[in-house]
Amino acid sequence: MSNAPAEATNVEETPVEEIDLGPANHVIDKYLTLPGNLMPVLQGIQDEYGYVPKPTIDLVAERLNVYPSQIFGVLTFYAQFHLKPRGRYIIRVCVGTACHVQGAPRIVETFFDKLGISHAETSPDLRYTFEKVACLGACGMAPLAMVNDDTFGKMTVQKVEEIIAEYNQRPMK
Ligand code: FES
Repeated sequence: MSNAPAEATNVEETPVEEIDLGPANHVIDKYLTLPGNLMPVLQGIQDEYGYVPKPTIDLVAERLNVYPSQIFGVLTFYAQFHLKPRGRYIIRVCVGTACHVQGAPRIVETFFDKLGISHAETSPDLRYTFEKVACLGACGMAPLAMVNDDTFGKMTVQKVEEIIAEYNQRPMK
């Protein structure tokens, strides 16, 4: 489990969302009697919604009898948790040293330009989230990009355009 800081998110300014709390209650029911259940509950909620919506934090606090601040502490410490909706397709571009030298900044800028979003942002239609990431461990393929679990090596501006054209056709479910 990564212990890198999660993305900066000002939760307090996020408007309260109206969501169906049924799936969250189901997750809490499943782990309610287990000791140390906060992490599995939060992971389960994220699996259900794709992120951890604010109303579920209040629900977890109430049902597990923990302070909301304690939950926020966990959510903001672990990079695996997301406090905002994420895109169906997560585009990651490596900005590690090898990829940087091989032209990653141009690849990043091209994605920004074509998608109209920048680092850690999600497109309004929830199709894409874009992230710059550290070395993905395949430096021989630099510059490297990933879309969900698909890897694209030796990236070029033209490949960026091809990837976006391809994923624009893919289903949202
Ligand atoms: S620096 Fe990009 S994969 Fe290693």
